[in-house]
Amino acid sequence: MSDICIEGGIRLKGEIEIQGSKNAVLPILAASVLHPGITVLESVPLIRDVWASVEIIEFLGGKVSVTGDQMEIDTRFLTSKEIPKRLGERMRSSVLFLGAMLARFGEAALYRPGGCAIGSRPVDLHLQGLESLGVKFLPDDSRIHAQISRWQGGEVHLTYPSVGATEQLLLAAAGNGEIIRIYGAAREPEIVTLCEFLVQTGILQMEGIGTGTLVMCGGRESRDSCFRIPGDRIAAGTYLAAAALTRGEVQLHQISASHMISTLKAFQKMGCSVGTGDQWILLKGPSRLKNLPFLATNPFPEFPTDMQSAFLVMMTVADGHSVMEENVFEDRLAMAESLRDMGADVQVQGRRVFCRGVSRLRGAKVSGTDLRCGAALVLAGLNAEGQTIVKNYEHVLRGYEGFDQQLRELGASVTCFV
Ligand code: EPZ
Repeated sequence: MSDICIEGGIRLKGEIEIQGSKNAVLPILAASVLHPGITVLESVPLIRDVWASVEIIEFLGGKVSVTGDQMEIDTRFLTSKEIPKRLGERMRSSVLFLGAMLARFGEAALYRPGGCAIGSRPVDLHLQGLESLGVKFLPDDSRIHAQISRWQGGEVHLTYPSVGATEQLLLAAAGNGEIIRIYGAAREPEIVTLCEFLVQTGILQMEGIGTGTLVMCGGRESRDSCFRIPGDRIAAGTYLAAAALTRGEVQLHQISASHMISTLKAFQKMGCSVGTGDQWILLKGPSRLKNLPFLATNPFPEFPTDMQSAFLVMMTVADGHSVMEENVFEDRLAMAESLRDMGADVQVQGRRVFCRGVSRLRGAKVSGTDLRCGAALVLAGLNAEGQTIVKNYEHVLRGYEGFDQQLRELGASVTCFV
């Protein structure tokens, strides 16, 4: 287990480059199984969830080589259709190899995925969607064991715009030569990036990319390709929040503001000034953040759940009362307890957190329950008076490449202890 120690009260200033998107690269790593050839990815974030995906690809028989932030994946000779529990349980995205292996081999077996402790995180929508395409699930107490003898075309109606279920169906469609329509699909930028990858490699023909209705056809000859992973909109929002919480001035590069419209609007409502350009965003934090009477998380293009923790921290030191409502995950407000330990005046009622802003937080020893909560507690430490220790810092490294180095680059005083 590792800790990070933060000396609060330093104004962050400077420029950093944003890592490739974790939530874009993970489904694309699973998609590399679809093409019996070479896939080159650029701007790959070198984070623990990526290494966990690489281990799965290598277990299946693939070969992966990394040079800087470029990754070459050779999946010409795969030898397994199963993913062992030790590899599958470490992160949520392992479940996406199900659709990819079904498309490639017509069979797959893996354990239910692990991931952050932010809710029950079922995969019922994934499995129902696959079933409607003709996939059969074999009786197996501990694993998901699936087979497909003949793919069916037709329609899949998602009752919730699940990001993972949409990705699952896109990967499975690769093996399906019939036309498939997905209604109620997720529209997150990471879905658009996955679709662009699948079209560029020839794996899918598609219409409706970026909308909630995706039309596709697979079963085609795929080709070697080189694909650049776009900047991580959640990592970007996290560093912007660090500036907002320290009256700082930070410029980010290699990030598209068009992926962050609802987040940037929320920063502006809290008194931050925001400038944007081609692949850059500049944010100046105010001397005191304004309160935000109500902010709710919802599927894209609404305000993203992955930015909820960082904005909750901002609300605790804003001038006045703010309310945060979490509508995507049922257990993603646990951080409020740690913020109270830092002097925040917050009350959780159901899916809402009621905040009365204090002028400044105070340093404390706290621990993060999930990736985004851990990062947000580090942000709280940047604002707080005195020293803050955030335990379980390894959670943060699952998604943020060099998080502490990036903060030091901006002037923060942070030290990691293993
Ligand atoms: C992806 O998770 C992201 N993870 C999450 O980011 C992100 O918060 C989430 O999408 C929403 O944007 C990755 O991309 C690796 P969902 P995912 O399926 O696919 C319910 C981070 O910090 N649901 O849209 O799991 C589910 O329980 C992570 O980077 C079902 O009920 O999100 C949740 O309440 C955290 N049945 C809601 O839908 C299903 O079969 C949203 O889940 C699937 C989902």
